[in-house]
Amino acid sequence: MSQGKLITMDEFTIQETRKFPQATGELSALLRDLGLAGKIINKQVRKAGLVDILGKQGATNIQGEEQMKLDVYANETLINILKNSTECAGIASEENDIHVSYEDTFSANSKYVVLFDPLDGSSNIDVNAPIGTIFAIYRRVSELGKPCTEADFLQAGNRLMAAGYIIYGSSTMMVYATKVSVNGFTLEPSIGEFCLSHPNIRIPENGKIYSINQGNTIKYSEGMLSYLNFCMENNKEESRPYSHRYIGSMVADLHRTLIKGGIFIYPADKSSPKGKLRLQYECNPMTFIVEAAGGKGTTGYCNILDVTPTELHQRVPIFIGSKNMVNKVLEFVKEKEAVA
Ligand code: AHG
Ligand code: MN
Ligand code: MN
Repeated sequence: MSQGKLITMDEFTIQETRKFPQATGELSALLRDLGLAGKIINKQVRKAGLVDILGKQGATNIQGEEQMKLDVYANETLINILKNSTECAGIASEENDIHVSYEDTFSANSKYVVLFDPLDGSSNIDVNAPIGTIFAIYRRVSELGKPCTEADFLQAGNRLMAAGYIIYGSSTMMVYATKVSVNGFTLEPSIGEFCLSHPNIRIPENGKIYSINQGNTIKYSEGMLSYLNFCMENNKEESRPYSHRYIGSMVADLHRTLIKGGIFIYPADKSSPKGKLRLQYECNPMTFIVEAAGGKGTTGYCNILDVTPTELHQRVPIFIGSKNMVNKVLEFVKEKEAVA
């Protein structure tokens, strides 16, 4: 096997930026800052199993540092790094009730805002399964030179400039999408850099894996039940076309879907008529990535990216993944009644 030269994420991002003469490099700098936050969170994630030895939340460890829950730690890390960055006017996080506007002069003149789910799949921490960080970058709509406003965070997904995730799995990867392409970078621990490992990711048009919490079946609509029956019916055949996989961490389930093809579903159900997952922190960034890779994401009645948010922590049903699998499930479900 030929030994190629490693390309770091920063090198790659700068090369890509140079293709657009009007680009200022601000978006590249923001992606670099998000990568830095990912590396710092990763360091803490890798110690998660030792928490009982080093001390639980609220306790003080042997070095005199206070231990924090990982999602609180991840949230604070992102907020602080982006505050010190020169490209971010403010953030909104799944962990905060309202947005945070950075009030210093530099930030007030920054043109981007970032929304994030600092730690996705947190119920998986205790069992050492993959977790992640999801981010979405918008150009602000409020006046430059002034603090950003809530309106900056209530933009539809079709206005996203970039989105990505960091997955803390058997290796740590950062995947980010611009309107042009999706690329994946694996953390090379010996140099502490994300290096290009998955250039120009394209999601297969067809897939064999459906990913849904089948434990909720009793609460699903008739349409959902008939789709699940369709998947299982097909398994009677010799070829066994479908397999079911569900990690319970959206980043991990969607990372697999992006690489291998398939569909990930979190539908509306009788106890959650609007679904569970959050539009701005989970569904929009993931749909932006999947679409840039050639796939599709829908609420069941419209493209996820066309939903105009009315509140920060809005939830939507989601059907996302390989184009043909998403089109197939749409033949069975109509979520319109649930969301309207
Ligand atoms: P978070 O850890 O950020 O709260 O997100 C958990 C989400 C998502 O990652 C996952 O797909 C889903 O919750 C799992 O929900 P169920 O346990 O209801 O299946
Ligand atoms: Mn989440
Ligand atoms: Mn979370």
